[in-house]
Amino acid sequence: MNKSPLLFSGNSNPALTDEIAKRLKVHVGKALVSKFKNEETRIEIGENVRGADVFVVQSICKSTTGNGVNDALMEMLLMVDALRRASAERITAVIPYYGYAKQDKKSKGREPISAKVVANLLKVTGTKRIVTMDLHAAQIQGFFDMPVDNLMAMPTLCNYLKKEGLSDDRIVVVSPDAGGVHRAELYAKRLNASLAIVFKRRPEPDVSEVTDIVGDVSGKVAVIVDDMISTGGTLAKAAEAILAHGAAKVFTVASHGIFAGDAIDVLESSAIERVVVTNTVPFSGLETHPKFVQLSIAQTFADAIIRITTNRSVSELFNGDEMTNGAGGHVAPETIVTTS
Ligand code: R5P
Repeated sequence: MNKSPLLFSGNSNPALTDEIAKRLKVHVGKALVSKFKNEETRIEIGENVRGADVFVVQSICKSTTGNGVNDALMEMLLMVDALRRASAERITAVIPYYGYAKQDKKSKGREPISAKVVANLLKVTGTKRIVTMDLHAAQIQGFFDMPVDNLMAMPTLCNYLKKEGLSDDRIVVVSPDAGGVHRAELYAKRLNASLAIVFKRRPEPDVSEVTDIVGDVSGKVAVIVDDMISTGGTLAKAAEAILAHGAAKVFTVASHGIFAGDAIDVLESSAIERVVVTNTVPFSGLETHPKFVQLSIAQTFADAIIRITTNRSVSELFNGDEMTNGAGGHVAPETIVTTS
């Protein structure tokens, strides 16, 4: 297949879809994505998709207009179903933030594996391919028997850190838990920095406690790297512990800024200098806040979509030598072969 991509958007992060569309020089397909009076999700695709290579962009997260995580999921599923029934040739679910990802295993008896349920639902509705970013655990790719492109925000976040002078032996990259060590190692390598690990435990869901720190943070600027910020507790507690171990300052970067509950207050009143996230999850009202920075990863998704439609390697985007403006390996939209 070598066709111009046809983009559609749900309501969870339309600003990101618009940005991706602009970079691809395509329009966002017409679709009614709303609710009936009885609160059921209502979908109507407003243009011909017969034979098309369709990409539905939808983060599985709350929207800024008050729709919940489950609304986002249902919109995605029903859009895929509608597109399949309208004879789209291939439907790719572009899920910048894959909600439910933390529920990827049974950590005690009688719990669901919700991330797998989401994968099953995407499959049965007709999704043929997934494009996502920084899955909570890379193994979630195995929940799908279809291609999954798990993109990385790392180039965008590292470029920002380098521009801010946060690299080399001035900094130490810190993983805020054992699960994030591999990710932190990649950042440390790219930033030419040393590595430290905070060990945490969760006495109950959404509550974290630091138990230990391994590695030398003393006198350094610490950059804590995480995949997501939910309640903010992990980062706030890790920052406290790192400073208590002699770090000079603490910065944090995370791919997905969910900012659940009073996370913004928690982070505002924490010892963290700056909280840097991407726009996989929309966030409004903090644009002018000196402590929060939101970087766009639209170009990374645009590059991946072009590469998929032209059968080029997606992983090349993340090979060091090809890095350019945050994502690297850009393919000009003109290289898309159109069929009409
Ligand atoms: C945990 O394994 C994740 O990588 C994040 O550290 C966690 O989800 C952050 O959650 P919170 O902000 O609620 O502490």
